[in-house]
Amino acid sequence: LDNGLLRTPPMGWLSWERFRCNTDCDKDPKNCISERLFMEMADRLAKDGWRDLGYIYLNIDDCWIGGRDAKGHLMPDSKRFPHGIAFLADYAHSLGLKLGIYEDMGNLTCMGYPGTTLDKVEQDAQTFAEWKVDMLKLDGCFSTSEDRAKGYPMMAAALNATGRPIAFSCSWPAYEGGLPPKVNYSLLADICNLWRNYDDIQDSWKDVLSVLDWFVLHQDVLQPVAGPGHWNDPDMLIIGNFGLSFEQARAQMALWTVLAAPLFMSTDLRTISPQNMDILQNPLIIKINQDPLGIQGRRILKEKSQIEVFKRPLSDEASALVFFSRRTDMPYRYSSSLGQLKFPKSRVYEPPRCC
Ligand code: GLA
Repeated sequence: LDNGLLRTPPMGWLSWERFRCNTDCDKDPKNCISERLFMEMADRLAKDGWRDLGYIYLNIDDCWIGGRDAKGHLMPDSKRFPHGIAFLADYAHSLGLKLGIYEDMGNLTCMGYPGTTLDKVEQDAQTFAEWKVDMLKLDGCFSTSEDRAKGYPMMAAALNATGRPIAFSCSWPAYEGGLPPKVNYSLLADICNLWRNYDDIQDSWKDVLSVLDWFVLHQDVLQPVAGPGHWNDPDMLIIGNFGLSFEQARAQMALWTVLAAPLFMSTDLRTISPQNMDILQNPLIIKINQDPLGIQGRRILKEKSQIEVFKRPLSDEASALVFFSRRTDMPYRYSSSLGQLKFPKSRVYEPPRCC
């Protein structure tokens, strides 16, 4: 979407994978979906180095909605968000962050809260703009293909009409199987800044691999449609949670980076370990993820030894390579050649100077 936003993949924090739809603030005040959770994450993003590395989006996911008022305006749950969403947006902005919100292009959100039906699209876009929201993730539960085909372009136009720059994250393709001809990626690139193509990630290595495998299997379709302002989204980073070993966490970070994926963490930044912070705050990896050319990488080799090589072209004629091992026995010595890695042999290569 050519709204000047997300010229590099967005980076930030999203509540869903780690905090889900925990609404029990009486029993679990620290972890329930509430103003307190988002303010505490905002504080961590600002104070622990995240913001300064580019992790600026603080994104609310499902389960924030309390209902609609007499005039149909969306309202947050008044017990969990007593000061309202505009207050949270102001708080995020005061810390140099941006606020993202979640709705659903259907009758209900995936967890059953009021959705944005077609007749509500303009009103809801207006509400988000009045609250000074900076990103909208629009999910697709409880809707038909026809509703989505009307609703997503309608929301893109409605957001644009508010005059407020609001990045638009569309779950549309994930509800249509993620592939042409049902999914029209050139239309998506015109109306959305990023889109979820495939299933939700869960907190396990198996899920990281299943998302990765789907993206690789369809890389001929997906790789060309990504670029500045319009990204494929393989879903959140689960680094810092319960399902990945240290090496698996490093692998998710490297793979998402070579795929030019949005880097949305979904972990508890109040308790994250220094090791996991190191992975997520690696300046060279972030620099590669945020490369201004915005070209998505591809898997270029799959060896019988279960080593796979991914390559992403970067600006200044640089490239990023990921050597990914699926082996579970031991570290494996792998050697390759410039020819095998598809580099022209005639050039002189210098080691990177940075970091
Ligand atoms: C869907 C989305 C998830 C999350 C949940 C919330 O499953 O794909 O990312 O937003 O809904 O209910």
